[in-house]
Parts: sequence; structure tokens; C-alpha cells
Amino acid sequence: MKIINVKLNGKNCQINIGYNIFSNKNMISYLKVYNNIVLITNVTLYNIYKKTIIFSLRQFKVINNIIILNDGEIYKTFNSIKIIVNNLIKLNYGRDITLMSFGGGVISDITGFAASIYKRGVKYINIPTTLLSQVDASIGGKTGVNNSLSKNVIGTFYHPKCVIIDTMFLKTLPRREFISGLSEVVKYAILFDKTFFYWIKSNLDSILFLDNKVLYDCICRSCKFKIDIICQDEKEKNIRMLLNLGHTFGHAIESFTKYTLLHGEAVSIGIVISSIFSNYLCKISLEQVQEIIDLFNLIGLPVTGPKNMKSKDYFRYMIRDKKNFSNKKIRIIVPNKIGKCVLLDNVDINLLTKIIDNNFLNDVLKYKKI
Ligand code: NAD
Ligand code: GLY
Repeated sequence: MKIINVKLNGKNCQINIGYNIFSNKNMISYLKVYNNIVLITNVTLYNIYKKTIIFSLRQFKVINNIIILNDGEIYKTFNSIKIIVNNLIKLNYGRDITLMSFGGGVISDITGFAASIYKRGVKYINIPTTLLSQVDASIGGKTGVNNSLSKNVIGTFYHPKCVIIDTMFLKTLPRREFISGLSEVVKYAILFDKTFFYWIKSNLDSILFLDNKVLYDCICRSCKFKIDIICQDEKEKNIRMLLNLGHTFGHAIESFTKYTLLHGEAVSIGIVISSIFSNYLCKISLEQVQEIIDLFNLIGLPVTGPKNMKSKDYFRYMIRDKKNFSNKKIRIIVPNKIGKCVLLDNVDINLLTKIIDNNFLNDVLKYKKI
């Protein structure tokens, strides 16, 4: 098991990464340090793990209570926060409690947000159970809920005390969700490390086969990229914005499709649009755009947006993106090359419109044929 101690402006967060961590008695004793733990999960996870992990957490008196939410991005709303907070108040819990999220990014975003506001802030722990939440959402303290007009615009920066990443959970994760998580892994490679990009490509079969060792390496490397960035820029004042590669388009696609496309799927499409845009600006080469598209195709991630989604639909959501200043100018991240990305402050809307409405789909199809 790997333990990484992250220090963020006086706040400590311990990240544990391993396989079958919960069978280890030391983990149970370690968790018992946090008294009054309330587990927050969803109905799907509860049904899968009630007789195993959740049973032992109860049996060893690690957890004190459970709150079970509905499953789905559509429940990442203020109403779920209300359910958690109302339950905690009814159960008369004080500031000494710890919330423990057990689920994917939806559950950790909701739990973190509830923890940050209940009695002006209580501790929380993340146990991420999707690949996406293991490499991204569980680390870095971004918490929040969606609003009908825009995604993730309401929230806080509030760090978990610890994160326990157990790759064993990925065995029950639906295939489509696993593939969706790989989008964030590829994102780190395009952002920071060309070697990692080719490593993913050459180890793809083992990753898709859930080979323990390769998966563990893949998750450790991804987490290190994220930790490195949040340590430099905890509150997304500058360099952390890079982690939004593909997300400005992606969030628009998620909202437009009413979350029928998964987060990672929307992000892979967003990364492809950003890459093509960058190629038009003479930044990234066509060959590298092709390599990015090829890797997403190999993984089984989508590279083109919904056919009925036009530039005006993208902009309607993108204009509300939280990276933008209040002057309504759209800001996006684009790759200069695989391994190096930059923030574009003042996006040329006319060019972007042309790419989305005219050339974009044709270009992608042309690339796919090569
Ligand atoms: P998710 O939380 O919706 O989980 C996906 C699905 O898989 C759900 O149906 C869930 O019940 C199920 N599931 C989870 N673990 C399982 C397991 N081990 N076995 C069987 N089923 C399982 O989706 P996600 O992709 O984990 O997270 C997406 C969310 O994360 C989005 O809301 C996104 O905005 C957010 N996010 C947040 C950050 C951040 O930094 N806070 C970063 C990236 C994404
Ligand atoms: N997922 C992007 C971030 O945490 O900043």
C-alpha cells in the first residue's frame, strides 16, 4: 500500500492507495481514530457492499450511522445536501462527527459540501469507488452540487482528512463507468507527461483487464499529478485551471444531454474539440491531434459531440463556466502538444463556432479514417 501525506496550507490529507485495503485490521484501527463516523453512500453501492465492507465497518463500530442517497448525477443537488443535513440535525450530531463518503465523484462532491457547511465544518473522509473518483474527484477538496443552469457552480474548497483508494472496488464498477474514468487519466498525460501518454497506450490491454499491478501504477501516477498541482495552487487561482482540460466543453455537453453522457465521456469529446481548436491556432500538430483521437478510440471513449448540439448550445453553458471572469469571455485549456497545455484567455468565438458547426465533425471523421 502506498501512503502519500499531502500538506496544503496547514491542512493535512493522507492518501492511501492499495488493493483490498479493508481486509487489513490496521485500516480498521486507523479509521477508529475518527469517532462518530456517518457513512454517506447511494442505494447502488449500499446494495452491493452491505454484506461485505459496510457490514464490517458496522461490525467493528467504525461507522455509527448511514445515510443512503439516490444514485445519479441528477441527485447532485441542494436537495441531497438538505437530506444529509436534516438527518444529522435530527440525530443530534455535533461538530465532532466525521462524514465518510463511499461512492463515486457524485457522492464525494456532495459529502464534502455537506461536511463543509454542517455546523460550519466537520471532518470528512473519502472512499472513492469509481476510477474517476480515485484519480480525480476524491482528491483536492473541490466539493459541490449542480444547478439547473450550470454544473458544479455551487460549492466550496474543503479537503478530506484522508482518502482511501482501494482498486478492489473497480471489480464491481460497470464497464462504461470504468472507461469513463480513463478519460481523466488520459487528461493528465496530455497535460503533463508524454511518456505517460504512450505508457497508457502500450499498457491499455492490462488496464482494461484490471490487472492489479498496472492499474495500481496507473492510479498512483495519476494521483501524483493531481497532488502536485493542488499543492501549488489549492484554490484554482492559476495552474490548477489546467486540470479543466476538456471540461468547459464537457460540462456543456453533460448539461445539454441531461447527463445521459457520463462525465468522462463528455470530457474526452471536450479534449478533442480543444485539440482541434488548438491545431487551428497552429499550436498542436495534426499528427498529435490524431494520436489523441486514436487513443480515445482505442479506449472506447467518444470523440464527437451530440449531432444536434450546435455552437450556440455549447456557448449557452460555457458562458457560465466558473473559470470565466464576469466579463462573459470564455476561457479554455488547450494542448500545445501532448504533455503541455495552456490556458486561452480570450477565445476567438468565430473560429470556435466554425469548428463546432462546420469543420469539427468532418475533421474528426477524416482523422479517424487515416
Ligand atoms: P458517479 O459518482 O455517478 O458514479 C458512477 C456510477 O457508478 C454510479 O451509478 C454509482 O452508483 C456507480 N458505482 C460507483 N462505484 C461503484 C462500484 N465500485 N461498483 C458498482 N457501481 C459503482 O460518477 P463518477 O464518474 O465517479 O463521478 C462523476 C462526478 O464527479 C461528476 O459529478 C463530476 O462533476 C465530479 N467530479 C468532481 C471532481 C472534483 O475534483 N471534485 C473531479 C472530477 C469529477
Ligand atoms: N477536477 C479538477 C480539479 O480538481 O481541479
